[in-house]
Amino acid sequence: MTLDPNTKSALRERLNFYRELGVGPLYRREVSERADALLSDDSDVVATIEFFESSDRSSGDRAALLQVIADDIGPACQRCKLAKLGRKQIVFGTGDPHAELMFIGEGPGADEDQQGLPFVGRAGQLLNNMIAAMGLKREQVYIANIVKCRPPGNRTPERDECETCSPFLMRQIGVIRPKVIVALGATAAKNLLSVNDSMASLRGRFYDYSPPGIVDEPDGPFQCKLAVTYHPAFLLRDPRQKKEAWKDLQMVMRYLDLPTPQRAPGDEGS
Ligand code: URA
Repeated sequence: MTLDPNTKSALRERLNFYRELGVGPLYRREVSERADALLSDDSDVVATIEFFESSDRSSGDRAALLQVIADDIGPACQRCKLAKLGRKQIVFGTGDPHAELMFIGEGPGADEDQQGLPFVGRAGQLLNNMIAAMGLKREQVYIANIVKCRPPGNRTPERDECETCSPFLMRQIGVIRPKVIVALGATAAKNLLSVNDSMASLRGRFYDYSPPGIVDEPDGPFQCKLAVTYHPAFLLRDPRQKKEAWKDLQMVMRYLDLPTPQRAPGDEGS
């Protein structure tokens, strides 16, 4: 989209105004070519700053900002085909809006679709145990998924579904501003990092992560660490990999200054 100089300066003034008020981070949605073609001249500004989050980070209004995002999605979102493929409800995400640690899974399963909350089924029980092993309570972290609607038969969410849902997840990250994101499984890792590598090569290190589209002037883009570990559903199928997952979580614990026990939980030694 090309903006004429007057529009550009009006937009700049408006952004400066928000900044002076302490408003931020701002979220800029990528405007598709099709949408671009539909825009008339004077709707440019509206389109460009269509989404912004007003986040006074000291005032604890993040819960309200998350609610704004949930309201934007709406309870009956029809933006992708998952809406018509049997999902009961949107699973937005849950936890502490000020969490330092955020877990991102793939998409809701049957239990999550039923209850409207992420990770409440068997995989969720294991995730709860993983969180407890880190010395944290579930309520102290934030949990979300790449897609907010259940894919039929728990299939992997398709690319267009992930892409449609992504701006809302990015906005959630922009509001929560976690220190660390843990991507649970290959779908979460590949979508967040825009890579197509194997889990084995993705695990075991931190990535510097900036959610695309989150504009956080004047401090530069918001950045946090991202770690990749196995999805709890995979660990249920192959419990031998729990030791590896525990290594990933210990790496995160060290970064967050959480005390790290020597032994893996449940490992009493011989
Ligand atoms: N698996 C996921 O990836 N997310 C959930 O919320 C539940 C199971």
